[in-house]
Amino acid sequence: MDDRELIRLAYQARASAHAPYSGFRVGAALLTNSGKVYTGCNIENASYGASNCAERTAFFKAVSEGEREFQAIAVVGGKEEITESCPPCGICRQVMMEFCNPDTFYILFEGKGKIICKYLLRELLPEGFGAGNLAR
Ligand code: THU
Repeated sequence: MDDRELIRLAYQARASAHAPYSGFRVGAALLTNSGKVYTGCNIENASYGASNCAERTAFFKAVSEGEREFQAIAVVGGKEEITESCPPCGICRQVMMEFCNPDTFYILFEGKGKIICKYLLRELLPEGFGAGNLAR
């Protein structure tokens, strides 16, 4: 699975976004270590706080199916039909921290001119709090 293909699957997932309040439609594609892909879209709610981001939709689908090992996630989003740069929000980065190795898990999103920005979770969540911090 190359980077561009994972981005394409994120675009496909974005088609299902439920974003009538913000108009900001997001899609995500999450790649497991075994090569399987789980997709997700943002799902907003009239009670705004009940909304869920595309990345967490993808993670929760995968985790609820028993998946625990992940290599990368691609995220695309933007208002209505346009796509802009869509780096994952802080809450989603924290969810990634729960299930991914920050030194090997990649986050992909498009930057200006549709170039693919690719970072390790460690770079986007430095000094992240995880299960290891609770161990003693
Ligand atoms: N959103 C995502 O789905 N993922 C992100 O990484 C950023 C924000 C959603 C949440 C909300 O439905 C809309 O985009 C505007 O914030």
